[in-house]
Order: sequence, then structure tokens, then C-alpha cells
Amino acid sequence: MADKIRRHGFSVRFVHWTVAISTFLLIFSGMGQMPMYKRYMVDQLPGLGWTSDYSITLAIHYWAAAALILAVVYHLVYHGLRRDFAILPRRGDIKESGRIIMAMLGRGEEPDNDKYLAEQRLAYAFIGFSLLLVIVTGVIKVLKNLLQFSFSEGVVFWATTLHNVGMFLIIIGLMAHLGAFLFKDNRFLLPGMFTGKVDLDYARRRHRLWSDQMDKKGADDAGAK
Ligand code: HEM
Ligand code: HEM
Repeated sequence: MADKIRRHGFSVRFVHWTVAISTFLLIFSGMGQMPMYKRYMVDQLPGLGWTSDYSITLAIHYWAAAALILAVVYHLVYHGLRRDFAILPRRGDIKESGRIIMAMLGRGEEPDNDKYLAEQRLAYAFIGFSLLLVIVTGVIKVLKNLLQFSFSEGVVFWATTLHNVGMFLIIIGLMAHLGAFLFKDNRFLLPGMFTGKVDLDYARRRHRLWSDQMDKKGADDAGAK
């Protein structure tokens, strides 16, 4: 069996899948409130009658929002405390991701990559920003639904508009994220989000800066024993 290298611990996988599942549920239940499923008769399909029931889609939206916020707060605290900022964008990432995409299309050489490719760091910032936007505007919309709070029409309008813009950005980010796996080389990363490990040869070839660092850390740890 090919050698593997550990890429993600349990925390990262827990956050990724909680965000992924809650995001799908939020998009689905949010569209239900628009209310798309009555209009396009999705609720006429067998077993999907509940999709046009506002109280059900609202309850799903609230529970999924709670899960998303929990995962985002946990993620920020966890990586903040560990001072682990490997996925944040760096200067020159836009240019570098252009080089990586050209290399995947067969033109030129790929640069030496760190743990994440430049476009993954950009994807993270884009999706992270969009998620924060729907969370902040979503919280305003929750407060508006409570009797104790009343907001001006302008605030309600902007919260609703930006909430919908946020959803649109998330859908674009998600399509780009899943689209990345159409490229064969990116598929080596898939097992990492399930088992935590990726192929060692792949890591040495494509994420050399990171694998070198892991090799050095392994040697240091062994030396300290
Ligand atoms: C079936 C759905 C999904 C699959 C198979 C999937 C797969 C993956 C994999 C394999 C990675 C790790 C890449 C690495 O190790 O470097 C990753 C990272 C990431 N995922 Fe997902 N993902 C899915 C859904 C989502 C959703 C719904 C979101 C958020 C809306 C999301 C946001 C992210 C972010 C921000 C990263 C880090 C940046 C990046 O690698 O692009 N993912 N995903
Ligand atoms: C991926 C994340 C999310 C997506 C795609 C999303 C999408 C939507 C959509 C399409 C609507 C219906 C249109 C509207 O009334 O503006 C909606 C409504 C709403 N969303 Fe979200 N949302 C997300 C996250 C959140 C979060 C995190 C919260 C709370 C913190 C939240 C709270 C609400 C509330 C309170 C409503 C209005 C319910 C009502 O009073 O009719 N959403 N969302």
C-alpha cells in the first residue's frame, strides 16, 4: 500500500463537514422560504410535500444556522489559539494561482506549493467572507423576528438584500470548490477530508514546502525522544 501523510486532524474534518452539511441545508431551506418549491411544484413530488411548509423550512434554517455558527466560532478559536494561519491568503496569490491553473492545462511549471495551493487560500477567503456575511445579516434577521427588537426599514432591507447576495456568493464559491475536483491532480486531496491522510508521493511532488516541513518536524520529534 502506498505511504500516506497526515494532512487534517479531527477538528478540521469536523468543521469542514459541519459547515458543508449546514450550508447545503441553509441553501435548501432558505430557497424554500422564497418560496421556490411551491412555485416550481417541487412540493408535488412524492415525499417532498413538506418543502413548501414555511414552519418546517424555517426550523431547518434555524437549526442549520446554529450548527454553522458553532463550527465557525470553533474554527476561529481553534486556529487562533494554535496560531495556525496556513490557509490565509498571501501576497502574490492571484498571480500564483494563474500559474497553477496554466500548469494544469499543460502550460509551464507549477510553483513549489505549501500546504495549500494559492487558489485554495483564495477560495478559503472568498467562502469565509461569504459565510460571515450570511451569518451577520442572518443574526439581524433573527433579531427582527423577535418582538423585543425593531429595526428601521433600511436596516431590514439591507440585511435581506445582503443575505441573498451572500447566498449567491456561496453558491458560486461552492461550484468552484467542487469544480476543482474535475481536475485529476486535485482529487488526491479528497481522502484527506475523510480519513485525514493523503498520498505521501503526491504531497512530496505537489506540496513540497509543506512535506519538507513535516519531514523536518518528524526528524526533530524523533531526535527529541
Ligand atoms: C460534497 C461536498 C464537499 C467535498 C467533497 C469537499 C471536499 C474538500 C476537500 C477534499 C478539501 C481539502 C483540500 C485540502 O486538503 O487541501 C476541502 C477544503 C475546503 N472546503 Fe470543502 N468539500 C465539500 C463541500 C464544501 C462546502 C459546502 C463548503 C463551504 C460552503 C466547503 C468549504 C471548504 C473550504 C473553505 C476549504 C478550504 C479551502 C480549499 O481547500 O479550497 N466545502 N473541501
Ligand atoms: C449558507 C448560509 C445561508 C443561506 C444560503 C441562507 C439563505 C436564506 C434565504 C434564501 C432566505 C430567504 C430569503 C429572505 O427571507 O431573505 C433566508 C432567510 C432567513 N435566514 Fe438565511 N441563509 C443562510 C444562513 C443564515 C444564518 C447563519 C442565519 C442566522 C444566524 C439565517 C437567518 C435567516 C432568517 C432569520 C431568515 C428569514 C426568515 C423569515 O423571517 O422569513 N440564515 N436565508
